[in-house]
Amino acid sequence: MAEPRVSSIDGKLAEEFAAPSQVDEVRERMTAFARLHAEAGRCVVLITSGGTKVPLESRTVRFLDNFSSGRRGAQSAEYFLDAGYAVVFLHRHRSLYPYARTFSSINVLDALQFSGGDQDRVVVNPQVLPNIAKVLKKYQEVTASQLLLPVEFSTLSDYLHLLKASAQALSSIGSKAMFYLAAAVSDFYIPACDMPEHKIQSSNGPLQLSLKMVPKILSPLVIDWAPRAFVISFKLETDAAILLEKARQALDTYRHQVVVANVLDSRRGHVVVVTPTSQHEVVLSKEDVDNQVEIEEKIVTNLTAAHKHFIGQQVG
Ligand code: PMT
Repeated sequence: MAEPRVSSIDGKLAEEFAAPSQVDEVRERMTAFARLHAEAGRCVVLITSGGTKVPLESRTVRFLDNFSSGRRGAQSAEYFLDAGYAVVFLHRHRSLYPYARTFSSINVLDALQFSGGDQDRVVVNPQVLPNIAKVLKKYQEVTASQLLLPVEFSTLSDYLHLLKASAQALSSIGSKAMFYLAAAVSDFYIPACDMPEHKIQSSNGPLQLSLKMVPKILSPLVIDWAPRAFVISFKLETDAAILLEKARQALDTYRHQVVVANVLDSRRGHVVVVTPTSQHEVVLSKEDVDNQVEIEEKIVTNLTAAHKHFIGQQVG
């Protein structure tokens, strides 16, 4: 099926995907954030992270979800901050969050204890959270410098409208903007006008769903909304045999700068960074794993270098 034209995607967004109420206010905040940091000589990266939710009812009880823990996005955000970028973190509500992600598997009550015998004073148990001071220091530095702007989405509609708003906001800083699209975005949806208002009743028998194709948002992003930005999409497959072909197809179709290709089961230790003219494997060695190196550190090093080169080409 042919891709819908860019102009028709804008119309479809307005007609079939309910915009979140805060979208205008968020666009203004992102615009101010991008300008402030670009004027200070910083690049700004918009990271999308986590999976989108597709409701089956307007008063939602049931929904379809795309798999993503948000780890890739949260870890990458920290390495972009280390590299001197300001970060807009467009993430799924309650998915992993930069810095806090270090403690995501810990029950907060297991990490606290009373101080001595005093039941009014609670302190952190250093055995449960050995790195807490180091992580807290970094987090507070980033927060105090206003280098991290978090924006939340839950549904596919939220995501599409907020991504458009962020692209419009970051377009004002041209090639200093990077888009790092690591979120897992649904390809299927039920238009608002076809959605039942109330909970679907199981007493009506087996449920048959008819889902429409979501327009690929990369098209308008690259052509219309932020045409001078450096854009990285991710390609996720479960079959390694088709991964690189799909990554190349995406570059041919959308004409953006980079696809980071990964297979679901090996995504923590192996990705391929594909550009129109190159293909570079990023791998964690056994030594890296022993030293707790994270693959996002290597991905971000690769991409910040490519972005610098890209900016140089635009100016020259
Ligand atoms: O969060 P983790 O558990 O750490 O896992 C990380 C990850 C596996 C989710 C991440 O590395 C990843 O691969 N993310 C992209 C997953 C995905 O949706 O792939 P896709 O092949 O379906 O989409 C490819 C690209 O098209 C994506 O960059 C997406 O932003 C974009 N897209 C998708 C749908 C849509 N309607 N419009 C789009 O532009």
